Amino acid sequence: MNFSTMKAQCMSGGIASLRRVSNAIRFAGRSVSAHPSAWVSLRSFIRVNCGGSITIGKNCEIHPFSMLLTYGGHIHIGDNCSVNPFTIIYGSGGAYIGNNVRIAAHVMIVPENHNPGTDDIPLHLSGKTSKGIRIDDNVWIGAGVKILDGVCIGRNAVIGAGSVVTHAIPANATAVGAPARVVKTQVRPDVMSNESR
Ligand SMILES: CC(C)(COP(=O)(O)OP(=O)(O)OC[C@H]1O[C@@H](n2cnc3c(N)ncnc32)[C@H](O)[C@@H]1OP(=O)(O)O)[C@@H](O)C(=O)NCCC(=O)NCCS
Repeated sequence: MNFSTMKAQCMSGGIASLRRVSNAIRFAGRSVSAHPSAWVSLRSFIRVNCGGSITIGKNCEIHPFSMLLTYGGHIHIGDNCSVNPFTIIYGSGGAYIGNNVRIAAHVMIVPENHNPGTDDIPLHLSGKTSKGIRIDDNVWIGAGVKILDGVCIGRNAVIGAGSVVTHAIPANATAVGAPARVVKTQVRPDVMSNESR
C-alpha cells in the first residue's frame, strides 16, 4: 500500500469516526438511528415529534436545510440515499424510502391529508388521514417534486422535476407533470439482450 492510499484511508476512517460520534451525541435518547457511515449535516433538521422514529441507512447524505419530521410516524431511509437541501419528509402515516434513492432539492414527501373542515367543525379539529408513502430502490426524484399520501413509486422509476405524484408509479417508469403521468418506461439494452437470449 503506498503512502497516499494509507493517507486517504486514515482520513476517511477519521471522518467516519467523527460522524459516528457526532450522530451518537446528536441523537442520544431520541428515536433516531443513523448508520455511522451516514453524513447527516448539522444544518439539517431531524425531529421526532408526537412519537415515531427515524432510521437512516449506510452511506446516506442528508444535506443542509433538509427536514425530517416524524409527526408520529416512521421515516425509513435505506442505504446510499441522498436527501438534498430544502427537502421535507414527514413521517405521519409512514415514509418508507428504499436503497439507492436520490431525492433532489425542494422535494416534499407528505404522507397525510387533513379532512376538510365544515361550518360546524373547524379544520384543526376535523382530523387527518394517513396511508403512508413507499419509494422503492433506485428511484430518482427530481427537484421540487411533491409526493402525496398513499403513493407507491416502483423501483428504478424517475420522477421529473416539479411533478406532483398523486397515484402509484410503476417500476422502471419515467413520470412527469402535475398530476404525474408515465411518459416512458426504461428498457436497458443489457436487460433487453439478456431477455432475448
Ligand atoms: C424527466 C427527466 C429526467 C427527463 O427524462 P427523459 O427520459 O430524458 O425524458 P424527455 O426529456 O425525453 O421528456 C419526455 C417528455 O416529458 C416532458 N418532460 C420532461 N421532463 C418534464 C418535467 N420535469 N415536467 C414536465 N414535463 C417534462 C418532455 O417535455 C417530453 O415531452 P414531449 O414528448 O411532449 O416533448 C428530466 O426532464 C427531469 O425532470 N430531470 C430532473 C432534473 C433534476 O431535478 N435534477 C436535480 C438534480 S439531481
